[in-house]
Amino acid sequence: MFRQALSVRSERGTRMAEIRYKRILLKLSGEILAGENQGGIDPHILNALVAQIREVSKRGIEIAIVIGGGNIFRGVQAGSQGLDRVTGDYMGMLATAINALALQDRLEAEGVYTRVLSAIEMKEISEPYIKRRATRHLEKGRVVIFACGTGNPFFTTDTAASLRAMEMGADVLLKGTKVDYVYDSDPKKNKDAQPFKEITFMEVLQRGLRVMDTAAISLCMDNKLPIIVFNVGVEGNLRRIVEGEAVGTLVRG
Ligand code: GTP
Repeated sequence: MFRQALSVRSERGTRMAEIRYKRILLKLSGEILAGENQGGIDPHILNALVAQIREVSKRGIEIAIVIGGGNIFRGVQAGSQGLDRVTGDYMGMLATAINALALQDRLEAEGVYTRVLSAIEMKEISEPYIKRRATRHLEKGRVVIFACGTGNPFFTTDTAASLRAMEMGADVLLKGTKVDYVYDSDPKKNKDAQPFKEITFMEVLQRGLRVMDTAAISLCMDNKLPIIVFNVGVEGNLRRIVEGEAVGTLVRG
């Protein structure tokens, strides 16, 4: 499943660490962007994320990103606000487009070439999602940011991440979170919660662990795509993972 480990050389010719994953799909939730705030985008968090993505991109890793929108609007909360769920989901998709543009802006300010591809056509601000085009951008070293999830209501951005990872032929799906591992119970509520270093898809489903939603997990399981759940708030974690270090929880078949 994994591509053969590659080694790269820095510009000065010194040997650098091995690379385990050549093409990655990084899932970032909107909540991460909010940091400690209730919503919106925390510029410090955004810059820290950009630094990690930049570091890995400069190493030649092909990076596709699916970004959520929960820091702005969550489709599932539509009902409590008297809105139709479908309308709420579309509002949530538009929220992901806002986050995608923010991420693009900061990455490009740091010299990382990017393209935003949206599942809902918004030609003035992004390219429409075309699988072959997305792949070409990756091959050219551009960070591809997918906006608007799958473009369909009732599908989460986690499911979009699984789908795009499969379409892009990613080696791994990296789910960036605020926690270090997947635990057997909520570590905020249970101080004895046990972390998993490794777990199977089936166990995740059977135990009802909230790694990603069921559709996303099933898609990865059926297509044998490993997921790594990790704390993206720790500087250097993204690089450590692509270099093959055991960071976070590996979910596999
Ligand atoms: P290559 O042909 O592979 O080099 O890709 P490219 O993206 O550089 O070429 P293209 O000529 O398609 O795009 C040039 C610029 O226009 C890029 O910044 C694209 O992101 C942007 N672009 C292309 N299509 C669209 C679109 O439908 N909407 C918007 N807003 N920008 C687009």
